[in-house]
Amino acid sequence: MRKNLPVTNVEHVLEDNAALVSTTDLKSRITYANPSFINISGFTEEELIGAPHNIVRHPDMPPEAFADLWQTVQSGQSWTALVKNRCKNGDYYWVKANVTPVIDTVILSATCRCASNRVVKKSLQRAHSTGKYKKVKAVRHS
Ligand SMILES: Cc1cc2nc3c(=O)[nH]c(=O)nc-3n(C[C@H](O)[C@H](O)[C@H](O)COP(=O)(O)O)c2cc1C
Repeated sequence: MRKNLPVTNVEHVLEDNAALVSTTDLKSRITYANPSFINISGFTEEELIGAPHNIVRHPDMPPEAFADLWQTVQSGQSWTALVKNRCKNGDYYWVKANVTPVIDTVILSATCRCASNRVVKKSLQRAHSTGKYKKVKAVRHS
C-alpha cells in the first residue's frame, strides 16, 4: 500500500458539473487525464501520465476499498464509490468514482460477429496468449 504524505486538512470541493476523467492500462498506470483531473490533482500532465494511479491515493482510504475496486473491475463490472484523493501538496478532494472496464473493442466485435470464423478464432487465441484479450481500460468520472 502506497502512503503518500504529508496531508493537510484543506479540502478542494469539485464544482457540481465537474467531470474528472482518467484512463489506465492494466497495471494501473495512467494513460490519460483530462484537464479537470490534472488541475485538481496539482500534478502536471507529465507527472501523471505513466505514473501509477495511486499517485493520488489518500492515506485515509482503506485498502479494502481498492481491493474491492480491482476485484470488481477484473470481473468485468463497474465499480462506484466515494473516494478521497490527495492533491500533490497534501490537500484533499472527494470524488464519486466510477471505474469501468473496457474490453478491447476490435477483439470484442470480432467475437460477437463471427465467432465460428477460423481466422477470428486464431486471433482470439493469440490475443489470449499475449494477454491482450483481457486488456481493460478504465474510465473514471467525478
Ligand atoms: C481507472 C482507475 C481509476 C482509479 N482512481 C483512483 C483514484 O482516484 N484514487 C485512488 O486512490 N486510487 C484509484 N485507483 C486505484 C489505484 O490504482 C490503486 O489501486 C489505489 O490507489 C491503491 O493503491 P495501493 O494499494 O497500491 O497504494 C484507480 C484505478 C483505476 C483502474
